[in-house]
Amino acid sequence: MNTMIKPPVQQSNTTLDPKEFRQVLGTFTTGVTIITARGEDGTPAGVTANSFNSVSMDPPLVLWSLARKSNSLPTFESASHWAVHILAHDQDKLSGHFARSVSGQEKFTGIEYQDGLGNAPLLSGCTARLQCRTKNIFDGGDHIILVGEVLTYDKTDTAPLVFQRGSYAIATSTAVNTAPPPGEDPRNFSEKSPIGYLLATAYFHFVGKSKESAEKLNLSSTEYLILSALGTREGRTYHELVTLAGYAGTDFGPEVINDLVARGLIDIHEADDLHAPEDDHAAIVLTPTGHNLVQQIFDESNRAEEQIMTSLGVPETIALRTLLSRFIRIHNPSIPYRWF
Ligand SMILES: Cc1cc2nc3c(=O)[nH]c(=O)nc-3n(C[C@H](O)[C@H](O)[C@H](O)COP(=O)(O)O)c2cc1C
Repeated sequence: MNTMIKPPVQQSNTTLDPKEFRQVLGTFTTGVTIITARGEDGTPAGVTANSFNSVSMDPPLVLWSLARKSNSLPTFESASHWAVHILAHDQDKLSGHFARSVSGQEKFTGIEYQDGLGNAPLLSGCTARLQCRTKNIFDGGDHIILVGEVLTYDKTDTAPLVFQRGSYAIATSTAVNTAPPPGEDPRNFSEKSPIGYLLATAYFHFVGKSKESAEKLNLSSTEYLILSALGTREGRTYHELVTLAGYAGTDFGPEVINDLVARGLIDIHEADDLHAPEDDHAAIVLTPTGHNLVQQIFDESNRAEEQIMTSLGVPETIALRTLLSRFIRIHNPSIPYRWF
């Protein structure tokens, strides 16, 4: 029999640099959980933990590790049951809340929960929850390792929260899940397409949509842009509006403002002896009719956002917003707040 001689197992290097070691471990991307239990005296305990993992399908076992220095240690060492909450993408604040080293009672003040198996507090709004019976507790150096038998679980379709390199993140699949329509070259839009091409295509598609919306409201694209800009902040001056329009690659003269005044959509609050919109002290505001129209514009754009969220997915939409915001900051840091 050909036996492979294994090389001796390397002794662990006990002089590891803790900061670097933490960084290395941080490259392992995980979900985030809050694990709760109830102490014998009835006090609730809850800890944010990303050491959670699956162990066995049959029997259904999971594990996680808890720092020995944790305030919640006595509760988890004696608890018959604990509940794992796999956090949703929008629960990063809750994660931060349960990562604070304060008393169990304090952590649960103002937090809504129900009692689960073994009276472990059950939080809501999570991606999934698993209620477990403590099966084993093992030594794990400066942590203890808790193995639990899953007795029951519930789950939703909400995308989970992700933890990577010490920061919260959102996961989006890199698998191509939108097949190109028949006749379209599959290389047209892909992760390899030039960014300028993708941005321009997305922009023109969106501009086309807002042109349609503008037409429905009897507005030109420029008028649509002016009213939207006033909707985010009133009292802008003519020159400010012209600058903002410039960011969208368009220009207009005072006659456009005068026309919107004549149509009863905006008013010019003029300073004393200034009478033309191009006077830079004249603050332009929406009339009640203008406000109504802007509300329709905003409702329409909210509907369009919801449509994107539905077809793209919630975490993907958030990822898109995050990346576009970063991209814009890098390329044009001088754009004023909510210019449009
Ligand atoms: C994303 C994240 C993951 C964490 N994972 C763990 C973990 O797996 N085990 C652990 O003991 N502490 C973990 N912590 C730290 C605890 O949540 C934190 O020390 C908490 O204060 C412990 O609460 P306690 O001292 O009230 O028991 C994590 C913190 C964060 C933010």
